[in-house]
Amino acid sequence: MEKTALTDNFNRHLEYLRISVTDRCNLRCIYCVPKGIVPKVPHDDIMRYEEILKVVKIGVAAGIRKVRVTGGEPLVRKGIGSFLKKLGEVDGLTDISLTTNGYLLEKNVDMIKDTGIQRINVSLDTLDRDKFAYITGYDVFDKVWRGIMKAHASGLSPIKINVVALKGHNDQELVKMARLSLEYPFHIRFIEYMPIGNSRMHAGDSILAPEIRKQIEALGKLMPVEKNQMDGPAERFRFEGAPGEIGFICPMSRHFCAACNRLRLTADGHIRPCLLSDRMVDIKGPMRAGCSDDDVADIFKKAVGYKQDAHHFSGDPAFKVTDQMSGIGG
Ligand code: 5AD
Ligand code: SF4
Repeated sequence: MEKTALTDNFNRHLEYLRISVTDRCNLRCIYCVPKGIVPKVPHDDIMRYEEILKVVKIGVAAGIRKVRVTGGEPLVRKGIGSFLKKLGEVDGLTDISLTTNGYLLEKNVDMIKDTGIQRINVSLDTLDRDKFAYITGYDVFDKVWRGIMKAHASGLSPIKINVVALKGHNDQELVKMARLSLEYPFHIRFIEYMPIGNSRMHAGDSILAPEIRKQIEALGKLMPVEKNQMDGPAERFRFEGAPGEIGFICPMSRHFCAACNRLRLTADGHIRPCLLSDRMVDIKGPMRAGCSDDDVADIFKKAVGYKQDAHHFSGDPAFKVTDQMSGIGG
């Protein structure tokens, strides 16, 4: 692959920008939302849509090819539909996707289709209504499921289902979640819990991918699916004859940093080179102070220069990511 302005010191091509459009969320997942009162980023400190679009265009000129819109919950932000549409019109982007918790999905499937987005990720950790209410704080499993079914019926594809594996919460259900890949063309992605921010879970609550794999192989042998360059860190598999796939995202058991191709734009306007490091570069401040497009491109490059070869995160309590997941965007 050709070097771009966003090729880092370890020869990784950072062509994927994850954009958190809001730190707000209409759910309160136990592994994401911190204990106590959560200070919200004041409205004025959130990147405006025009600012985000400008960052994206300059990023594309530097080498960004792919974006994912995340939150918090992106569908709670006013005007998200027209923002996504404009994002779809940015020349040079080959892929736009959206991560949502599904709460407002049913209502927004047509809007999403209309923007040209094909691929969505929905967070769903359980198929049990009571467990869902416990994990997310809201009794809205049925609504989320209807949203997923409507998205499926509308032809959005692939639909990826993100399952954070949590000891004592959904560990009895992993097989049931994996079975969805036998019934639907969904990609079920098991994510190892990462102790980020001040959530109500602990490092010991992670279930590592080898253990998940052992459990779900009760359904059959997992066959590897060939990865393509844009795949990112998921390891992909399929049960024989299944329309869907199984994926593992293993930040804890296996460092996937060597294959990392991403940068993040936080809701409050920083470029964050690594999810698992609090080091960031402010982009909103200089933009609001009237900096040039070249200056914005330089901020991208500076952030790329901060990208480390690997994270040093092993659940060691001495190593801490203090920022909250909801503002970083997962
Ligand atoms: N560890 C692992 N995954 C997390 N997510 C949110 N917080 C964590 C965490 N601490 C997941 C959500 C969502 C995705 C964007 O990130 O389930 O699907
Ligand atoms: Fe909201 Fe997603 Fe965090 Fe759950 S994980 S509280 S849905 S941002």
